[in-house]
Amino acid sequence: MRSVSRISDARAVLAEQRRGGCSIGLVPTMGNIHVGHLALLERCRAECDFSVVTIFVNPLQFGPKEDYTDYPRTLDKDRDVLSVHGCDLLLHPTVKEVYGEHPEQSTRVHVPDLSERWCGASRPGHFDGVATVVTRLFNFVQPETAYLGLKDYQQFLLIRKLVTDLGMNTRVAGVETMRESDGLAMSSRNAYLSADERRAAPALYRELRGIADEIRGGERDYPGAASRCRERLSAAGFNLEYLDICDAQTLRPASIADSELVILAAAFLGGTRLIDNLRLAIDPAALA
Ligand code: PAJ
Repeated sequence: MRSVSRISDARAVLAEQRRGGCSIGLVPTMGNIHVGHLALLERCRAECDFSVVTIFVNPLQFGPKEDYTDYPRTLDKDRDVLSVHGCDLLLHPTVKEVYGEHPEQSTRVHVPDLSERWCGASRPGHFDGVATVVTRLFNFVQPETAYLGLKDYQQFLLIRKLVTDLGMNTRVAGVETMRESDGLAMSSRNAYLSADERRAAPALYRELRGIADEIRGGERDYPGAASRCRERLSAAGFNLEYLDICDAQTLRPASIADSELVILAAAFLGGTRLIDNLRLAIDPAALA
């Protein structure tokens, strides 16, 4: 595995691969590599000749009171893990490499509507930061396919839209959420949970599965079902940011006519913010 911090070095390696006819896949990350990230790499390796992972803790997507400074940075360990798992090129650029000498004056990318909902409402500016960095990373690497986790479902939809809108020649593939054996979605932020919080955390996904079962069983009062679920989670110690049943493409609150749904949730346990989602399709015959 090659490991470089300069974009020009990465470009040189990639140009050589392209000349050799290799297809290039990209897994963008902020590092602290875990099994969720490795699932993206595994899919990338299965589908592309040359697999690139980027590690960049992107200051633009963190709010002023968020954990940018404390975000776990474990580059040496990540390099070893990625190398063992068959990554071909690791790009870990500095902020200056990505944003130039004057980051505050550099061009931003905004995806309307999707940026404003859910996580976007509770984290103002977050998705502009994500859209801006992803645009740059995709331009640096110019992958045939980029692999994104469905755990961050709103982020996945937003990146798919920006790629379409900006006419990028990249396919965006979504990879299923990797979970601990008790159902908790794997995340770098799980390390912040205390032992008690860690024991409570799986309730979030359990509740999402519970609502999905209710819907499959015929429940169509979506606001009512979501509200009962929020109450149960609050009683279990979660501080809910949102939990709602939405149309899986627009992320607008779902109506009875929608047949592809996603249940989206974000909640704090103590100081740790957890997000999760569950997608489900309703048989159109059941809507008639
Ligand atoms: P990060 O949180 O490091 O996640 C990198 C990728 O791994 C994202 O596509 C995310 O959805 C995916 N991922 C995280 N946990 C996962 C899990 N349990 N199962 C499957 N995939 C999982 O998301 C970001 O970084 C950043 O916002 C980024 C896209 C890199 C832009 O800075």
